[in-house]
Amino acid sequence: MSQGYVPVQWNRNKKIYDIVLWLGIVTAMAVNVAVAGASVSASLAPSDEILVLRALGDTGFILLNIILAIGPLARLNRCFLPLLYNRRHMGVSFFVIVLAHGIFALFWYHGFGVQDPITSVFTSQGTLETVSDYPFQPLGFVALLIFFLMAATSHDFWNAVLGPKFWKSLHMLVYAGYALVLLHLALGALQAEPSHVPNWVLFASLAWVGGLHLTSMFAGKADLSKVNRGAWVEILDPMAIERGVGRVVEVKGQERVAIFRTDNDEFGAISNVCRHQAGPLGEGCMIDGLVTCPWHGFQYQLEDGASPPPFEEKVATYELKVENGSLLLNTTALPPGTPRPLIKLADHASEAS
Ligand code: HEM
Ligand code: FES
Repeated sequence: MSQGYVPVQWNRNKKIYDIVLWLGIVTAMAVNVAVAGASVSASLAPSDEILVLRALGDTGFILLNIILAIGPLARLNRCFLPLLYNRRHMGVSFFVIVLAHGIFALFWYHGFGVQDPITSVFTSQGTLETVSDYPFQPLGFVALLIFFLMAATSHDFWNAVLGPKFWKSLHMLVYAGYALVLLHLALGALQAEPSHVPNWVLFASLAWVGGLHLTSMFAGKADLSKVNRGAWVEILDPMAIERGVGRVVEVKGQERVAIFRTDNDEFGAISNVCRHQAGPLGEGCMIDGLVTCPWHGFQYQLEDGASPPPFEEKVATYELKVENGSLLLNTTALPPGTPRPLIKLADHASEAS
């Protein structure tokens, strides 16, 4: 948030997160080198440099699979939210690992020829006729450029300069990077004779990343149901929303809306789009009575969509009303920071979970 905001309640946790993350990275590297070194006969054993190069690539690939899974996992189960708060740190750590892999490969395989290493990456391979010549390294190079763009713009400064919408679109390129890495593996390590990466690694990764995204998409859809009544839409089964937790409602042709139920069974609706990096507010929860973004913890008052003083961020609010016992949402957004009453479904309070 403006005013030099420090994300809520995460400073100590952030340190623990980073320590655990780097312990995991170092362990994954060590296990990878040890297992790969021990699993081949001495005559076929790759050099120590190649073992480290591969371990960096493999550790990066594992991290990428974790990073891509965090969003859908947190959507499916809120106990994964702490991972989401600090996903940016994992992203930058991932970039450091794959950058080391890329630079190492550039110098180890391309550093001793007549061409400069980058030209050599694009010209030394290039035919699909022989397995050993599949052009898999340019694919890794382009993926690395994408991850560089993402890591370099991960700071809030770039979010402010580029605007949350463009910033978010830029960071969606992670899926293009993932696709290029899959091809890098499929045309490279999988084709090596003998292959040191089994085929099922690629299928398992696709099933993991794709399966989680599809599952969370369908699980989310069930939550979005509502019946149109002109400018008003009915929020189905509002008492199924847990206290202190949000629900995302899709409004045709507009930004999504986040509906929250307070501990006093009052309901309020604000824009789903966080002012920080367009995180999905409706997937967050209420901490200390404030709607808290699941991504980096920016907070907003449900009463008026404004961040508590001294912070200045504001999101749009929406009117709610009760008609014939149903909770209705007015789909016309009120200007950011507009107060409007929270609505109590008094008659239904006894059904509360
Ligand atoms: C400048 C960019 C890159 C270059 C030049 C490059 C080059 C290479 C080379 C030469 C290998 C084969 C190593 C060997 O078996 O001897 C390799 C394998 C690999 N690379 Fe890259 N790479 C780049 C970027 C990336 C990126 C961004 C990732 C992302 C995760 C990645 C992941 C991997 C993986 C998982 C392997 C397989 C490791 C194994 O065989 O166990 N690479 N890369
Ligand atoms: S706090 Fe970063 S996107 Fe909401």
